[in-house]
Amino acid sequence: MGKLEGKIALITGATSGLALAAAELFVAEGAYVFIKGRRQEQLDKAVKEIGQNVTGVQGDAASLADLDRLYALVKSEKGRIDVLYASAGIGEFNVPIGSVTEAGFDKVFDVNVKGTLFTLQKALPLMPDGGSIIMTAPSPT
Ligand SMILES: NC(=O)c1ccc[n+]([C@@H]2O[C@H](COP(=O)([O-])OP(=O)(O)OC[C@H]3O[C@@H](n4cnc5c(N)ncnc54)[C@H](OP(=O)(O)O)[C@@H]3O)[C@@H](O)[C@H]2O)c1
Repeated sequence: MGKLEGKIALITGATSGLALAAAELFVAEGAYVFIKGRRQEQLDKAVKEIGQNVTGVQGDAASLADLDRLYALVKSEKGRIDVLYASAGIGEFNVPIGSVTEAGFDKVFDVNVKGTLFTLQKALPLMPDGGSIIMTAPSPT
């Protein structure tokens, strides 16, 4: 029996990288996983790669409407989230401070800060006591 048998997990930013690898591991350990990302094609590819016990939900982490749609779906399909892994993020601030633009600043903070905060806030009503939250907090610099 896997370590996550019967658990429901939501993993954001799981169309690639660390979070996609985590989603595969979670399913191998017995969890049902909802994965989220912006790019539909990458999302479909990730769902195919994971293969079973997975639902892909397209959406932008910085959009509260997209988050509401995501949580409404999770609630109607599974009713709860045992593990939230918030990993959606971008690291586009690797420029000298003199080259930082307002648009670049807003983009990074919208996804990495606002997106992560509201992903967490909106998940809490669906999380039972003993649930787990993992945040791959991207640094703003
Ligand atoms: N790798 C590192 O050294 C490192 C270090 C510190 C922190 N981190 C953070 O840890 C996390 C995972 O790192 P990684 O290297 O595995 O990242 P990655 O491969 O670049 O994956 C980032 C994920 O975030 C999603 N994403 C980006 N912007 C989004 C948005 N606006 N809305 C929804 N999803 C969005 C991407 O999917 P879509 O493009 O399809 O939306 C992708 O699935 C990231 O948040 C990264 O910033 C990484």
